[in-house]
Amino acid sequence: MTQSPKYDYSSVNIRQQFQVSYDYPVLFTRQSFDLDNPTLAGLINNLDEAPKLLTVIDSEVAKAHPQLAQAAKTYFQAMKMQTLPEMIIEGGEACKNDESLLDSFYQVVEQYAIDRHSYVLVIGGGAVVDAIGFAAATAHRGIRLIRMPTTVLGQNDAGVGVKNAVNYHKRKNYLGTFVPPFAVVNDFSLLDSLTNRDKRSGISEAIKVALIKDKPFFNELYQAKYELAEFMPEAMENMIIKGAKWHLNHIATSGDAFEYGSARPLDFGHWSAHKLEELSNNSLRHGEAVAIGIAMDSIYSHKMGFLSEHELKQILSLLDTLGFKLNHPALHLLNVEQALAEFKEHLGGRLCITLLNGIGTGFEVNHIDIQTMVESVNSIQSNQIDRLIGQVA
Ligand SMILES: NC(=O)c1ccc[n+]([C@@H]2O[C@H](COP(=O)([O-])OP(=O)(O)OC[C@H]3O[C@@H](n4cnc5c(N)ncnc54)[C@H](O)[C@@H]3O)[C@@H](O)[C@H]2O)c1
Ligand SMILES: [Zn+2]
Repeated sequence: MTQSPKYDYSSVNIRQQFQVSYDYPVLFTRQSFDLDNPTLAGLINNLDEAPKLLTVIDSEVAKAHPQLAQAAKTYFQAMKMQTLPEMIIEGGEACKNDESLLDSFYQVVEQYAIDRHSYVLVIGGGAVVDAIGFAAATAHRGIRLIRMPTTVLGQNDAGVGVKNAVNYHKRKNYLGTFVPPFAVVNDFSLLDSLTNRDKRSGISEAIKVALIKDKPFFNELYQAKYELAEFMPEAMENMIIKGAKWHLNHIATSGDAFEYGSARPLDFGHWSAHKLEELSNNSLRHGEAVAIGIAMDSIYSHKMGFLSEHELKQILSLLDTLGFKLNHPALHLLNVEQALAEFKEHLGGRLCITLLNGIGTGFEVNHIDIQTMVESVNSIQSNQIDRLIGQVA
């Protein structure tokens, strides 16, 4: 019998350390596939290899823009790229729940020998971008992904960051990666076909980021509230560009781009929003639930003495003017204590909730006074906030 060597392994102390820096452009344009629009063409840095391109399109976008797939093909063929037959996938959360989607994508990758020098161009809402982002990040350990988000929420938030995910057994974002895209192209002309409801819904994420980071940006949104309520292009574009900039700035400078810690300042208003989406059987859009969550945590911030009544009124009045319905029936089903406990579990550490210390300044707390939060919910359900909104008009 061989004796194991007496060896003190504690002296073997290898420490692996290296840095990887990320650098990707987030561009803004209109009519991306006009042959004289250089935005997309400027991204392809290996044209001498005649790289392959797979375009994946959200079914609703394909319906609303029936010429889009052909226009993309013509544009990239003019650059001598090898364009593959496009994939059209079901838009909305359904694609993230569809367990056959990944398999279909990997089959196409295999069939056309798509490799790490090829490109996937995904055109769609946040859900399609999330799902194809995950598929592209996992095939060959990562195929170059150009994201072209087509919703307001996608352009100012979901589509510009580093996260990708699909749902698994109905559990939201259960399978996912932190993999930055090759590039993001926000084409404003694609937003024209959104319903008013979807145009409005994504504005709440820009309000959220303004509230926690940038008072002048909030003031701009407040000044432009009637233009935004009418979805006037200039006001919408400014809101999207600044919203995207702040989301990107946070990822680049927070020191925790891949969310190892518990703090999630960008999740202001989100602990209840996630729960309300679920309680409404997803009849609430994410952005609509975030608007309610923003109202709730702003009221709580005021009740705890951090936010003045004047600032609270401004926040509520902005949400109201934009047409957000804050008193949703799902609020009756919300169990504050339980929802906070679930959010804590989701963070995987201690409870970390962002509140407002005045407009433009978010800060973290690790404890929420349940009674005060319940009162905040109640004041949305009663006519108390209508009175506050009425006073600032
Ligand atoms: N990865 C992230 O960092 C991140 C951040 C926030 C949200 N998300 C995810 O984003 C998803 C929500 O995204 P969303 O708000 O963009 O909604 P969505 O993708 O569900 O799209 C809403 C509806 O609009 C349709 N649509 C999309 N673009 C259109 C267009 N231009 N014209 C007409 N119809 C169009 C879609 O087919 C869908 O039916 C959720 O799954 C959420 O988890 C991801
Ligand atoms: Zn959100």
